[in-house]
Amino acid sequence: MDLTRRLAGRTCIVTGSGGSIGRASCLRFAAEGANVVGCDIAAAGAAETLAQVEAGGGTMISIHPADLTDKAQCARVIAAAVEAFGGVDVIFNNGAMAYFDWIDTIDDETWHKTINQELDIVFLMTRAAWPELVKTRGAIVNVASLSAWAGIERLPGLAHAAAKGGVLAMTRQLAMEGRHHGIRANSVSPGTIETNQTRMILDDAEWSRVQLGRAMMNRMGQPEEVASVVAFLASADASYVTGADVAVDGGVRAW
Ligand SMILES: NC(=O)c1ccc[n+]([C@@H]2O[C@H](COP(=O)([O-])OP(=O)(O)OC[C@H]3O[C@@H](n4cnc5c(N)ncnc54)[C@H](O)[C@@H]3O)[C@@H](O)[C@H]2O)c1
Repeated sequence: MDLTRRLAGRTCIVTGSGGSIGRASCLRFAAEGANVVGCDIAAAGAAETLAQVEAGGGTMISIHPADLTDKAQCARVIAAAVEAFGGVDVIFNNGAMAYFDWIDTIDDETWHKTINQELDIVFLMTRAAWPELVKTRGAIVNVASLSAWAGIERLPGLAHAAAKGGVLAMTRQLAMEGRHHGIRANSVSPGTIETNQTRMILDDAEWSRVQLGRAMMNRMGQPEEVASVVAFLASADASYVTGADVAVDGGVRAW
C-alpha cells in the first residue's frame, strides 16, 4: 500500500470545509488521494479551500453555501457527491457553530441554536449519508471536543459541552449500529486549536496561562495536527478502530 495515498479513490465529504480544521482536512484528504466533497454555509471560505485544493493538484467539488441544519441541503450534498464520484466512502462531520453563555444568563435561543448547529447538524448529515456508507462499508469521523470531557475554565460552554457530549455519545451508538454494515464511526476531541476564534486567548495573559498550562505541550494545536488524526481514522489504517474517541489536545486529558 502507498502510505502517502491511503485515501486514493475514496470519496470523502468534509462539512465546514471553509473553516480552519475543515480546510486543513480537505488539503490532507486531497494529498492522500481522496475525491474531496466540501460543503459550508459560508461561501467565501469554502471557495478558498476549493481553490487551494485545486492549486495543489487535488480533486474536489464544493457545495456552498449549504446550511447543513437543513436536511434538504444535506441531501443535496450527498447527491452531488454521488453524481460527481459515484458514492460516499467517508463523512467527516466537522462543521459547527457554538454560542457561549453561563447558566445564570443563557437564554433559550442561545441554547437551542448551539444544540442545532453542533449536534443536530451531525445527526442530519450522518442520516443523509448512511445509505451511501452502507453501500461502501464507509467510515464516519465526528468532531467532539475536550468540552465533551471536561469543563474549561473561563469558557461559558454550557450548551457547547452538552452538544459535544451528544456528538461523543452518538458516535458510539453509530459504531454499534454500523457494525452490521462494516461502517466504522469514531470521533476526535480537539483541545484548543489555534484558529481565528481562539487566537485571542493568546492576547489575554491570564487566560493564556491557564489554557496553555493545561496542555502537557504548553501550546495550542494546529489545524493540521487534527487533520492528520482524522485522515488516519478515515483510512483503512484504522480498520480495527471503531467507537473510539481520540484526544488531540496536547495531553490535557492525561494529567
Ligand atoms: N478550534 C478549536 O479549538 C476547537 C476545539 C474543539 C473542537 N473544535 C471543533 O472543530 C470543528 C471545526 O472548528 P474550527 O475551529 O475549524 O472552526 P471554524 O469556525 O473555523 O470552522 C467551522 C466551519 O463550519 C461551518 N459551519 C457552521 N455552521 C454550519 C452550518 N449550519 N452548515 C454548514 N457549515 C457550517 C462554518 O461556516 C465554518 O466554516 C467544530 O466542530 C468545532 O466545534 C474546535
